[in-house]
Amino acid sequence: MATITATASASPYARIGGMAVLRQITDRFYDLMETDPAYGVLRAMHAPDLGPMRESLTQFLAGWSGGPRDWWEANPGKCMVSLHGPYAIGRETAAQWAEAMRRAIADVAPADREIADALAGVLERMALNMARG
Ligand code: HEM
Repeated sequence: MATITATASASPYARIGGMAVLRQITDRFYDLMETDPAYGVLRAMHAPDLGPMRESLTQFLAGWSGGPRDWWEANPGKCMVSLHGPYAIGRETAAQWAEAMRRAIADVAPADREIADALAGVLERMALNMARG
């Protein structure tokens, strides 16, 4: 009983495995984007060097899931959806983003399957919300 209570009250950040696991997920996500031709359109939208994105997305996911908030401190008042306003994101591209992220999470296979599935689901909704048209 005590264990269940502790698990239920832990932040998603702690449950997923903290910074180390978020970094693995982000790295796997951009590795897939770089190597799988299915994500060619998505890849082409990004800068040639994905290094800064690997850092940025890891930090964003950390703060967003209840961990260190460095990304917010570096980007005060920024909204992730508005930040994507300048990009022509259609439904198909958004679905590719969500699929690559779902695969990355599955490949890293965090021990807490419930929070891993929830993360994939919420990120999919966020990505689809960025699509126009
Ligand atoms: C819907 C599909 C998406 C597309 C097509 C997309 C595309 C992009 C592009 C083109 C950039 C600029 C990257 C560069 O200059 O190399 C970017 C930045 C970024 N995206 Fe996305 N994105 C999507 C969804 C998301 C989602 C759902 C998240 C968060 C969970 C996210 C997090 C970020 C972050 C953290 C940055 C860097 C912003 C910064 O720190 O300045 N993106 N995205």
